[in-house]
Amino acid sequence: MQAVLSGKTALITGSARRIGAAIARRLHGAGATVILHYHRSQEEAEKLAKDLNQQRPKSAFLVAFDLMQSDLSSLMQAVLAHDKGLDMLVNNASVFYPTYLEWNAQAKAQALMQINAFAPYQLSLLARPVLEPCQGNIINLVDIHATQPLRDYCLYSQSKAALRQQTLSLAKEFAPHVRVNAVAPGAILWPEKEAALNEAQKQALLNHIPLQRLGRAEDIAEAVLYLATAPYVTGVILPVDGGRLLQK
Ligand SMILES: NC(=O)c1ccc[n+]([C@@H]2O[C@H](COP(=O)([O-])OP(=O)(O)OC[C@H]3O[C@@H](n4cnc5c(N)ncnc54)[C@H](OP(=O)(O)O)[C@@H]3O)[C@@H](O)[C@H]2O)c1
Repeated sequence: MQAVLSGKTALITGSARRIGAAIARRLHGAGATVILHYHRSQEEAEKLAKDLNQQRPKSAFLVAFDLMQSDLSSLMQAVLAHDKGLDMLVNNASVFYPTYLEWNAQAKAQALMQINAFAPYQLSLLARPVLEPCQGNIINLVDIHATQPLRDYCLYSQSKAALRQQTLSLAKEFAPHVRVNAVAPGAILWPEKEAALNEAQKQALLNHIPLQRLGRAEDIAEAVLYLATAPYVTGVILPVDGGRLLQK
């Protein structure tokens, strides 16, 4: 049986590690050629590309780019220079840190808005002319906290709310040729660095999840694959959260 994404090419931003890497592996497993975008995680990106290319030669390519740059056209040029076309864009790259109620938070606000919302917007606009002829699609990684505010993360929640609304707006603007959807993960992988939680905080969070556990990166990847292959689905925000949105 032919793999469902055979002959298709997907760009996944921030795909060297964690959820992005799981998405890249799943789409590749479904037959896609994957373009792995990364910024700092060069070693992990090279390792992943090597592994995927061992499974299928010339099926994984790398593009390094800092999404803080104001013009992303050179990223799209680098993607298209691989001469594999583009059928699918997955806006996965993101930053996540608390900003509490800081007053002088312009730099953090700019980074959150640029990476989590404006970069996906520019990339979607840049990808549109390439996606249109092949009836391609875009999938954004939002967050259940786009609609349920997360204490201490006001600016992060705003950035994901912007990406959520962008998904709905572009689904309307890009129809009928390009579908635009999003996955809204709940708690999947514990946050790192300044957003890291202690054991008591982790347990308190798990107590708010009806399924009483974290999700797996593979659960998110499966949802992305579903949206990528659902020809009559556009403008949908699909929560994958163990029922967390049911809780107050
Ligand atoms: N983890 C969860 O439980 C969870 C929950 C809700 C929503 N989500 C969403 O799901 C997606 C994946 O989550 P995750 O936890 O796997 O993400 P993550 O590890 O926080 O970030 C993914 C990647 O974003 C890239 N990135 C950050 N700043 C960048 C910049 N300036 N330029 C280019 N790339 C940049 C990084 O690439 P490099 O490492 O190469 O620098 C990083 O590996 C995100 O959109 C996140 O908001 C995740």
